[in-house]
Amino acid sequence: MISTYQATCQARVDGALNSLFTAPAPELARLYEAMRYSVMNGGKRVRPLLVYAACEALGAPAEHGNGAACAVELIHAYSLVHDDLPAMDDDDLRRGQPTTHKAFDEACAILAGDGLQSMAFGALLDDRLSPQNEALRLQMAMVLAKAAGPAGMVGGQAIDLGSVGKKLDQNALEFMHRHKTGALIEASVQLGALASGRATPEQREALKTYAQAIGLAFQVQDDILDVESDTQTLGKRQGADIARDKPTYPALLGLDLAKAYALQLRDQALEALRPFDAAAEPLRELARYIVERRS
Ligand code: IPE
Ligand code: IPE
Ligand code: MG
Ligand code: MG
Ligand code: MG
Repeated sequence: MISTYQATCQARVDGALNSLFTAPAPELARLYEAMRYSVMNGGKRVRPLLVYAACEALGAPAEHGNGAACAVELIHAYSLVHDDLPAMDDDDLRRGQPTTHKAFDEACAILAGDGLQSMAFGALLDDRLSPQNEALRLQMAMVLAKAAGPAGMVGGQAIDLGSVGKKLDQNALEFMHRHKTGALIEASVQLGALASGRATPEQREALKTYAQAIGLAFQVQDDILDVESDTQTLGKRQGADIARDKPTYPALLGLDLAKAYALQLRDQALEALRPFDAAAEPLRELARYIVERRS
């Protein structure tokens, strides 16, 4: 169930994202169309929601997170376009529609992903979307670069692809999940905190603990849903991990222990927010949503 808060944030980020996909020349129409197709297609917008919720938890207006919210969703969309390619997970359904390489073609999907990645940094550094001073915007760009790159998400994807058919132990699986999914989720919270311009070091540390827990929980729940949801609800092919012999939490621990682990991570996240007041309620709500969601 999406709350009113979530719907408001989704509308805010979609408004900002929507303006980014106007082709500057007719020759570029197809590329821009592919990028728009990959972004404006009903994603849950969990990462932008985390940016806004972290910014508001520290008492700043949500709008100060617009650049970061667009940036994390653009990186996420690029990662999904590439994740679905035949050379990676080879999926043909995403958010209930044909994947970008199916709707367009592979070369176009690769370039659309490349374009979205560059646009992410453009959005973050654009002072119309990020009202922070220049030094703070640069600090935010560095956070995103680290999280999205080879020491973060890209590294996690490399480990994921190198692990197909292998039996990972829990440490190795956790390392992979923390990189491929956790890194960008952690960055989303960190960026929201930075965007507020008023986070103390103690607050940033507490938010880091929160973000690490929900980042891992998010991928554990994604793995669980691959087992027990259905294609219609998910908007992507159910059972794809099993079919491809991917290392996942349910495969390692069994479904019941995987579910218990997700709840334990949620509780860790909520515990980390204990020093925060009612302004952190949306962050608490998101921690619960991440392990209760059905899609
Ligand atoms: C799916 O992410 C890919 C993972 C990192 C697990 P989401 O579940 O956030 O996908 P959308 O954006 O809502 O489609
Ligand atoms: C994708 O993980 C993680 C990234 C795209 C970085 P998955 O491969 O599990 O995501 P889905 O299940 O295809 O959405
Ligand atoms: Mg994958
Ligand atoms: Mg995949
Ligand atoms: Mg998955």
